[in-house]
Order: sequence, then structure tokens, then C-alpha cells
Amino acid sequence: MPPEDTGSAAVEFRGSADIAGGLKRASACVSAMGVYKFRVNGREVSSAVLAPGWTSYKNRVLYQRYDITDMLSEGKNTLSVSVGKGWARSPLSLMREGNLYADHPSAIFYLKLEYEGGKTKEVFSDGKWEVWTTPVINSEIYDGETVDLTVAPRLIGEALPDKGIDVRLAPQYSGLVTEHERVAARRLITAPNGEKIIDFGQNLAGYVEIRITGKAGERVSISHAEVLDKDGNFYTGNLREAKQRDTYTLSGGRDVLKPSYTYHGFRYVRIDEFPGEPAPSAFTAIALYSDMKRTGYFTSANQDVDRLFRNVVWGERSNFVDIPTDCPQRDERLGWTGDAQVFCRTASMIYDTSRFFDKWLADLAAEQRADGSVPRFCPMVPGMDEEGNSAGWGDAAVICPWELYRAYGDPDVIRRNFPLMRGWIEYMHSAGDEEYLWIGGNHFGDWLATDAGEGAYVGATQTDFIASAYYAYSLSLFVKMGQVIGEDMTGYEKLYTSVRRAFRETFMSSGMPVVYKKGDGANKARRTKAVTQTSLAILLAFDLADPGERGAIAKKLVAQIKENGGKMSTGFIGTPLLLPVLSSEGYVTEAYNLLLQTKAPSWLYPVRHGATTMWEHWDSLRTDGTFWSDDMNSFNHYAYGAVAAWLFETALGIRQTEDSAGYSQPVIAPRPDRRLGSASGSLDTPHGKIGVSWQYTDESVRYEISIPDGMCARVEIPGKPPVNVTGGEYIYTT
Ligand code: BGC
Repeated sequence: MPPEDTGSAAVEFRGSADIAGGLKRASACVSAMGVYKFRVNGREVSSAVLAPGWTSYKNRVLYQRYDITDMLSEGKNTLSVSVGKGWARSPLSLMREGNLYADHPSAIFYLKLEYEGGKTKEVFSDGKWEVWTTPVINSEIYDGETVDLTVAPRLIGEALPDKGIDVRLAPQYSGLVTEHERVAARRLITAPNGEKIIDFGQNLAGYVEIRITGKAGERVSISHAEVLDKDGNFYTGNLREAKQRDTYTLSGGRDVLKPSYTYHGFRYVRIDEFPGEPAPSAFTAIALYSDMKRTGYFTSANQDVDRLFRNVVWGERSNFVDIPTDCPQRDERLGWTGDAQVFCRTASMIYDTSRFFDKWLADLAAEQRADGSVPRFCPMVPGMDEEGNSAGWGDAAVICPWELYRAYGDPDVIRRNFPLMRGWIEYMHSAGDEEYLWIGGNHFGDWLATDAGEGAYVGATQTDFIASAYYAYSLSLFVKMGQVIGEDMTGYEKLYTSVRRAFRETFMSSGMPVVYKKGDGANKARRTKAVTQTSLAILLAFDLADPGERGAIAKKLVAQIKENGGKMSTGFIGTPLLLPVLSSEGYVTEAYNLLLQTKAPSWLYPVRHGATTMWEHWDSLRTDGTFWSDDMNSFNHYAYGAVAAWLFETALGIRQTEDSAGYSQPVIAPRPDRRLGSASGSLDTPHGKIGVSWQYTDESVRYEISIPDGMCARVEIPGKPPVNVTGGEYIYTT
């Protein structure tokens, strides 16, 4: 730690290593409380940004290992770790004071030098390391960064051993956050109010790089926002307290400006200060997200659907910044469990998220409470924890491991998360007065559904219904997973039978959803509509309806959608289930009708209104150009992007049998629709890449299917008898 209070400024811890001849390997381990940049002889070692990332710091802080052999030369080498406030010290969520995990920056460093002949030497950060000022005089996750390039670094003194911080270090094993796409400025706008705005044409999470040569002391300042208001002016209302502003004082030479310890959610930047006339070519937006391998691709001749898919991909990129955040722009950016749970399946098709989620689940497990409940978001912000969690949110503890197991087929994800899952199941088991139901509690319900009326946050579906349904659903997955790893699940199997029975007795009558009467009024937040699109979809998706009841429920759902003008009325919980249950019950055309709806609420309404990412609300931007609200209106919220799983599984038809995992038993069952014209895509599975495309001609549909070597797949083309095929290329025409 520094020898004096350095306030909000980033500081540099500087040491050195004497290198003798014959160095074979040099491996450095670095971490910090804050976020850091690691340099050897003044050169940045890695493209990592925002390391060491955000974990449950009170339980573990990750360290990163770098091979720096090629960066060292014989003689004295300078090592430096510069540390900004990051998540450890920036204000987070509603905790506006900051310094939540530590009140000063600190870093830890270890270097192992291996020489030819077997000799080794170690270098540690210690009291001989110096502490220097840096050009970054302020930096916060939500507010942005202030950099003064005119001030020469000043030696503050020698580093002191850290006081009062007791952290457990753990090795990094997920992908680091690094720079990805570079997006050129598309145009410079002069807004009606006279402000100068750069439009990058794509909403994303990251920052802006500016190349400029100015006079020493001249300033550049930019603010970031996602949308313009109805008059075309820069709009920051939905950022709430987050300032998202970067300010630089120029050095006088040629400067390449970009922040080091912060990131923003934006499509537009407003130029608040700039010497002379800004040229768009000086500005480049850089997307930041965790390194993950891209695995899923989809394109369609229908431009709206094509854009929708790209918006889902950008939603994932923008919110997979070390943890699965709800949004990247406002003063929130938290690992909300419900959002992660509904999107996990889709996310794991588009990118290989196995390590990304593994890291986050380890933090969720670390933060699990003694009663088995998990926090609403993870990592939990110190000072904001509350007891319990909502149904559909805490279930991330079970559903995410399940989706990872299904996607990648590795039973170790079940083994690692078994105690986490059991804890959450036991929490639901003991919640409320009824052993086999989850009645009462504070729930987010069918969050942001439109069926509870204008401006409501919690949808109309009774929260007791949703909570008890999730209790049954998560329990059913837990039983399946336990069996995969050879656990004795007989007790939980029996519990499941009782839970499912109790659910059906309480929340169903004559095969339809009913409202639970007992206790009504005790909890005002409890909703009262029995038959909603969400309640019907849940009965089908969570296997709560008996086989003989499914047809009538699906028919009712189709009727409900029709009554609602061919539109959905669902929120976070119901929406991801709609298309899968419609198509699995034979209503493929009706599923496409819903997919292709362009009036709100619908997936394509935002697309038709210029969205380049997924919106938090169906009508975040209304037809008259006004906004849903200021306080809760993100234009980059991935939850509704869960629809893309259906594009893979049903439109392209790349799926797997119910009881298999990792595509060991793939089924290719495309369900085309003429309104799309054509669709094509691929999924990189653990057994190789499956490719599917279909195209309508005047008279027929032509399918091309590609199966990797060594894979055996069942192909179900509409109108043809199913066939089993092995690796190869197949063409069908119907
Ligand atoms: C977040 C949501 C989250 C919700 C829970 C919001 O502030 O942005 O995505 O799931 O809170 O109520």
C-alpha cells in the first residue's frame, strides 16, 4: 500500500529485477485490490483490461500469471503495477461512498526466474518497491477517468505492507477481459441543442480511443450515452448516477487517449471539450469483454431477424465483462442471478462460456448463506445484502450448472456445484410454511411483463405460482444432475414427486392454472391473474402439466396471444419459454408469428426502432420517441436475448435428446418458415461443428446439413422419414 493517502488517483508500485545471463523462463503472478496494469520496462505485458476482475473479494481475489521471459533483458529491469480504484474502491450500486472493499490501493507481485542449469530466483513485491503517482488522477467504474498527461510522475515513497486486508488469492482460469472489436466513428452530429456528438452506430461496452496532437494543457472531455432523445439530443437520464465521462489534459505531443481502469456502455459520445474541430476519424470505440471462444453463428435472409441475432450477440459481449452483468451503462452493472439464469443457455451456444460461468458460480457458492440462499446478484456489494432471494433469480444456482452441463457435457460442472445446488434446493424446501410449495417471500415475479398494466415492474402472474413452479423445476434438474454423477437422489426424487403433486393440487384445476387463494392479501406484491401467457408457458416448459393436458394448455396460450393482438405480454420469466413451448406443441407457425411481430411488445419492435443491442423493456423507446422511464431503462440488457436459443434449436433445429449432454446425441430437426427466406448457422459442439442451412425457392425448400466426423446424428426433415447419419454433408429437398 502507499505510504500516504492517495485519494482517488491511480498509483504505480514500482520494483525491479536483476537478470543474469542464461534466463530460461520468467513467470510473474500479479494481483491487486483495485484494477491494475502490469508493465515490464515501461511496456504493457498483456492486453488484459480491468484485471484482476471482480470476484467475491471477501472470499477470493484472483491473480494472473504472465510469461514475461521475452520482455526481460540482462541487467536491471523495471517492473510496475499501476492500480486504479476498480470494483474494490469505486462506489457500486446504491453504495455511493465507495471504498467498499478497501480504503487504499494495493498490489501483490511474485516473479519466478528459471535459469539454464536449474538455478531459480524469486522476486517479491516488498518494502523496497516504490510508489509513484500516475497521470490518472481519478478513475471510477461508473463515473469514468480523469487523466493529466502534463504532470510528470512523482515518487511518493516506499510501499508499506498492507494493513487490514486479509484476502485469499486464487488463480485465474477464466478468460481475461481484453479489447475486442474496434468500431470506427460513423458520423459527427451537431445536435439541435448545439452539442457535438459522435455516433459509432453500435451500442457496446468498452471505451473510446482518441488519437490527437494538441498543445500541452489543452483538454479533451467526452461523455458516453446509449441513445439520443426524441429531439436528437444526447440523453443520459437512464445512466442514473453514472457519469461515464473521460477527461484528458494533453501532453503536447502525439497522444493516444483511452482510459485504463474504467469502462462505459455507449453508442454515442458527446464532445464536451476538444481543442479545435473534432474529426470523426480520430475516434474509435473499442469493445471490452471476457475472452471466450465463439461457437454459435446464425444468419437469415430476413434482415430484421438477422439484426435481432446480432443484437443478442452484442448483448452478450457487452455484459460478459468478467461477470454476467445486467447492463453495462447505469450505476448498476451487477451480476444479477435471474438475468444470468434465463440467458445462460443462449449465451453458451454463442460463446463457450464454460469457464466464464464457472468463475461466477464459484463466487455464488462462496457467497451462499448458511440457509442455502444465494444473493440476488453476485458478487454482492458490501452493505447491500438482504436475506433470501427471489424465485427465478436464486435458481441460477441450479439452472446455470444444468445449462453448462447440457452445452458442454462435462459432469465436473455438476460435481463442483453440487453443494451450491443442494443448498438452494434446501432453502426452497424450508422457505414459507408449506414444505412442498414456496408461498410468500419477496419475488421479482415475471419481471417487467406488460400484463400487470402500464408502468408495473412485476408482471401479473402470481408470484407464489412462479416460486412454486421454480421449486419443482430446479428440483427436477437437481435430481437429474445428481444421477449423472452417481449421487443417491432417492430422497430428492420423492421430494420432487410431492412438490409436483402439491403444485398441481394448488395451482391447477381442470388442467389449467388457478390462483392460490390462501393467504391472499397478506402480501400485496402477490399477483392475482391465474391464466397468463407466462403461467401457461411455465406449465408446459417445466413439465408441470400431464401429457393429456398439454394440448389444451398450448391451445389456450395461442388464444391468449391472439387476444393480445398477436403479441406477447411476458417478462423475464415467461418470455424465454414462449417460442420453445409453442413449437414443441406443434404451433411452429404461431411461434414464427410471434418472432416476426413488429409491434411492442415484441423482439422486432426494438429492431425496427434502431436497436443494436437488446433492450431492458419491450418499449424502452416508445413510438412517440419518449422513454419508458429514466430510472430503469437500459438499452443493453441481454435477458430477452434468450430467444436466440430458439433460432438454433428450432429454426435451424440443432438440438440434442432430452437425456444427453454435450451433443453426444444430436438431433437435427429444422423448422423453416417462408417469411425468413433462408437461414443458416452452425454450432461448435464438443464433438465438432454442426452446420445447418435451409432456403426457400419458389417450389421447394432445400436443406444443407453438415455433421462432423465421428458424430452420429438423427436428422428429422419436415415431410421426410427421420434418418440416422454419420459425419458428412447432406442435402435434402422437400
Ligand atoms: C436489474 C435487472 C434485475 C432486476 C431484479 C434490475 O435493477 O437491472 O435486470 O434482474 O433489477 O429486480
